[in-house]
Amino acid sequence: MTVLVPTMGALHKGHQALIKRARTLDKDVIVSIFVNPLQFENKSDLETYPRSPERDIEIATIAGANEVWFPEYEDLYPEGFKTLSAGSLSNVYEGASRPGHFDGVATVVVKLLNAVMPDAAYFGRKDFQQLAVIRSVVRDLNIRCEVRGVPTVRNEMGLALSSRNSRLSPYRLKQASIIYSILIEMANMARNSETSSLTLQNHFKNGIQSISAVKVEYVDVVDSDSLVPVAIAQKGTTICVAVWFDDVRLIDNISI
Ligand code: PAJ
Repeated sequence: MTVLVPTMGALHKGHQALIKRARTLDKDVIVSIFVNPLQFENKSDLETYPRSPERDIEIATIAGANEVWFPEYEDLYPEGFKTLSAGSLSNVYEGASRPGHFDGVATVVVKLLNAVMPDAAYFGRKDFQQLAVIRSVVRDLNIRCEVRGVPTVRNEMGLALSSRNSRLSPYRLKQASIIYSILIEMANMARNSETSSLTLQNHFKNGIQSISAVKVEYVDVVDSDSLVPVAIAQKGTTICVAVWFDDVRLIDNISI
């Protein structure tokens, strides 16, 4: 019995949480580390993506990985390989500004699953749209693997852990924790009484307005599976946001 935790390396406590969760199943946990060129639209982002294999092996092992697998490009992408289409979920929100990104994610994840044939695979809810795309591709292709989502790991101020956070100044890092504070307020509003998506969107925009040089790219309330926007935030929906702090783009979400 095997569990796969796909990653691109530069592991942090968020990745460790996936490995620890996988470990609780008392199965063989394989962590794959592969910086997937197909999901980067920008060559320089791919080249500058942080790589720390030695440290990653240590972090994965401490969290309970039995094996850390570094696939070679050629292992996954033979000459003339075909890519998958991630379908309608892939063109909105995170996909809108990154054409082809989720096709690249879907393609590599299916290849990793086919290579390892795990009973289950773990993904972070932080990348909520990615999780929805992977669930739908696994279902569409009848892949026999249970896709499991793990809650977002946050720093002590509530900011979702991400390798991008290291690009924020200490001052900005502190400010960025406002994203989660407002998301909690929004979720409470929606849980306490029927609240329209418009009211919640305005609440987020107004809350974040107090901080200078911050731009909201999107704030929306969507059905958690189909990602279709809803008019009223209720059970089974998710509030998702993308915000720019200077030139650093941060995403987060909260489920109702
Ligand atoms: P990567 O960004 O390395 O993330 C690997 C996994 O860790 C993803 O499932 C992601 O959602 C999860 N993760 C990242 N930060 C997290 C946090 N703060 N809390 C919980 N989980 C977190 O996502 C990818 O790689 C790639 O797209 C991949 C799925 C490996 C395909 O190439």
